[in-house]
Amino acid sequence: MASDLAQSARRIAADVEALTGARYTLPGPGITRYAYTDAYEATLDYFRSAFEALGFEVWSDPVGTLVASNVAPGERAFGFGSHCDSNRNGGAWDGTLGVVSALEACRIAGDSLPLRVISFLEEEASGFGQMLLGSRIVLGAVSDEELASYEDEHRVPFLEAAERAGYRPHDHARAGEILDGLVGWIELHIEQGRVLQDTGARLGVVDAIAGYVHADLSVHGRADHAGATPMDFRSDAGLTAAEAVVELERIVRSHSPDTVGTVGALTLGPGIINVIAGAADMTLDIRSVSGDHEKVYAALADFVRRRAEARGQRMELRERNRVASTPMDPHVVEALERAAQISGAPWRRMASGAAHDTQMVARRIPSAMLFVPCRDGISHAPEESADPADAALGVQVMLAAARELLSD
Ligand code: HGY
Ligand code: MN
Ligand code: MN
Repeated sequence: MASDLAQSARRIAADVEALTGARYTLPGPGITRYAYTDAYEATLDYFRSAFEALGFEVWSDPVGTLVASNVAPGERAFGFGSHCDSNRNGGAWDGTLGVVSALEACRIAGDSLPLRVISFLEEEASGFGQMLLGSRIVLGAVSDEELASYEDEHRVPFLEAAERAGYRPHDHARAGEILDGLVGWIELHIEQGRVLQDTGARLGVVDAIAGYVHADLSVHGRADHAGATPMDFRSDAGLTAAEAVVELERIVRSHSPDTVGTVGALTLGPGIINVIAGAADMTLDIRSVSGDHEKVYAALADFVRRRAEARGQRMELRERNRVASTPMDPHVVEALERAAQISGAPWRRMASGAAHDTQMVARRIPSAMLFVPCRDGISHAPEESADPADAALGVQVMLAAARELLSD
């Protein structure tokens, strides 16, 4: 098996490296590719050609999630995959390694197993601000009204961008058909934390994925002269926003240790040095495996509302989307554990703090995930990196688990 692993590692490395090429990313540090950009469509073409070269049939769901299979649509199969879009200035391994590893699994298995690979559209929020968008559409979790309201940074509506790219977004209610016939699903992904590295494990069998709430919070105060306005006469939206950021940390730390909270973007308006901020806009990303993130979100909203009122300001909270904390299927988890044990490599069972399409697939299909380490836990950054040899090992493990589950 050693030579096979080395050959797999070389092919995985070559695919990941190839997809860092200029045609597969928008300009700038790291990787930037998201739905309907030329870079993203070129990436899908790369995978389409690779799967067709294996004799797999390749198609798309109505919005552009890519599917490749060695059996007809709807037939009994085991599912592998992830996403190949990235963050803006993100890394080359997040998501893409999962699709590359699924491709490698298909190279190895050939027609010995009925396999279906799925590369979900817009897992990151890079294009339309909606995380897990492709898999939420597949699971029917996005309404017509919501879909019609999404637009990119140029105010191009999602539905229009999808049609321009040649898809059929008005048929999105049929997207779930790509899961028909799947008996199980495994997503291989970099850990995006450093538990595996710090504990010397090469594989992580994921038994739960953190839930999250994504929202936009705005504070409406009053722009005013920074010099002539005494402190007691101000309605400074920046102060309320600053208190919100600090309070988020305090509330999160008072909940379960798996609870995290992030203000990833904060802008003050009009954003001029001698003008008191009349407007503050921030993003909220609050997560937990325990479910505590829901309580944190409510407590923070209540805090900001009170602090805004105390300053005669108005708070506006617009939820983008939320996905519940998701347990993985015990049978799939145990099959992965058995295969990891047989591999002889150090492995551990763990939860995922990051969100993944698998937490949507798991609503319909018995699912689990397999993590491989990423260097120093760095992810969502150009410095993100992983060892293809770990992914090659992961491919063998997920194939063994699929073989067992298909024989049930
Ligand atoms: O943010 C996440 O958890 C995922 O990487 N999109
Ligand atoms: Mn990501
Ligand atoms: Mn990812």
